[in-house]
Amino acid sequence: MAGKGRVVLAYSGGLDTSAVLLLLKEEGYEVVTVTVDVGQEDVLEGVEERAYKLGATEHYTINAKEEFASKYAFKAVKANALYEDKYPLGTALARPLIALKVAEIAKKVGADAVAHGCTGKGNDQVRFDSTLRYYLGDDIGILAPVRSLKLTRSKSLEMLRSKGFKVEGGHDKYSIDENLWTRSIEGGVLDDPSKEPPEEVFAWTIDPRKAPDDPLYLEIEFRGGVPVAVNGERMQPEKIISYLNRAVGAHGFGRIDHIENRVVGLKSREVYEAPAALTLIEAHRDLEKTVYTPLEYRFKRTLDQAWSDLVYNGLWVEPLRLHLEAAIDSMNRFVAGLVKLKVYKGSLQVVGREAWYTSYSHEAIDYNKGWYPEGMEAEGFVKIYTMHSIAAAKARGLAGGEV
Ligand code: ARG
Repeated sequence: MAGKGRVVLAYSGGLDTSAVLLLLKEEGYEVVTVTVDVGQEDVLEGVEERAYKLGATEHYTINAKEEFASKYAFKAVKANALYEDKYPLGTALARPLIALKVAEIAKKVGADAVAHGCTGKGNDQVRFDSTLRYYLGDDIGILAPVRSLKLTRSKSLEMLRSKGFKVEGGHDKYSIDENLWTRSIEGGVLDDPSKEPPEEVFAWTIDPRKAPDDPLYLEIEFRGGVPVAVNGERMQPEKIISYLNRAVGAHGFGRIDHIENRVVGLKSREVYEAPAALTLIEAHRDLEKTVYTPLEYRFKRTLDQAWSDLVYNGLWVEPLRLHLEAAIDSMNRFVAGLVKLKVYKGSLQVVGREAWYTSYSHEAIDYNKGWYPEGMEAEGFVKIYTMHSIAAAKARGLAGGEV
C-alpha cells in the first residue's frame, strides 16, 4: 500500500516525466497520471500503456486541442504574440491549460500533491507552479523531482533504460516539446549557438531545397481578428492550425533559430518549428495595418508586447492579462477580411489583402487621378509639421549641412 499519499502527475510521456513517475513510485507515492493532448503527436501514442507500465495506478488522457486552439492560440493571433520578436509561445501557452486540467483531476481524485517534470533552469517551472498554486491553493504540495534532485537528462535516460524502457524519436538527443502551435527543440548540439541546426532536428518543415517548385497560395479569412476560413473553406480553429502546419511546412516555411532570454536569468539557443503560427500572425498583422489608424497601429504593438512578455514569463494568472485582452479584443473587432499569401521554398509573403473596414482608398492614393490636396494646403502642412524639428536642430548648432 502506498504510504505517502496520492499524487497527480502532469505526464507527457517523454523522458523527464517518465523518470519522475518512476521516482515517485520508488518513494512510495500512489501516482495518477494526466496527459493533456494539446496536439503533440510525437509522444502521445501509447502514452497510457507507458504510464501503467511505469507504475501509474490510474491514467487520464484529456483531449484539449480545440480548447487550446480557440482559447489560447487564437488569443496569441490577436496579440501577434512573438516573444522577443521571434517565438510564437507554444510551450508558454500550453502550460497554463495543462495545469488547469491537472488541477481538475487533482480535485476529483482527492490528491495530496501534484507533480511535474520541470527543471530548475527553465521557464516551465514558473508557468506550472504559478497556475497550479492559483487553481489549487497553498495547502497542496507541488513536487518537482527533476528540480529538487537536479536530475540530469542522462540520468533519467539511464534510469529508464535500466528498467527496459525505450526512448526514441530524437528524445534521447534533444529536449523536444510539441503542441499544435509550436514544436520546440533544445539541447544537444543546438547548445552551441554558433553552429547551424542539423536537418535531423526538424520534423514539421521540409528542407526548403526539397520543397515543391510551384508556390502555394493561401487565402485566409479573418473575422474579429481570428481566422475562420482557408481558401474559402470554413474550419474549426484546431483544423485551421493543423491544416496550415502541414500545408505550409511542406513548403519549408516555419523554422526559427534565436537566442532567447529566459525568465530564469539565462540565455538559451532555441530552435522552433511553427508554420501555422507564423503564417497566421503575419497575415493578421498585415490586416491590422490595413484597418488601424497609425495611432492604433503603434499603440497595439505596445499591448502585444506586454501580453507576450506576461505569457512567456509564466504570469497567465496575472490580472493585467485580462485588461490587455479587453483592449486587444476591442481593437480586433474590425480586423476582418481576406489575406492572400504566397509560400515558396521556405519563404512566406503576403501578396494581397482585402479588409472590410478600411480607410484605404484606391481613389485617394492614385497619382494620376482622384483626390489631390490644394497646393497651399500641402505646403502649409509640410511647413508647420516640420517646424519643430528644424528649430530644434538649429538651436543645437547642427544646421548647415551637419545634420
Ligand atoms: N523556450 C521555450 C519556452 O520557454 C520552450 C521550452 C520547452 N522546450 C523544450 N524543448 N523542452 O517556452
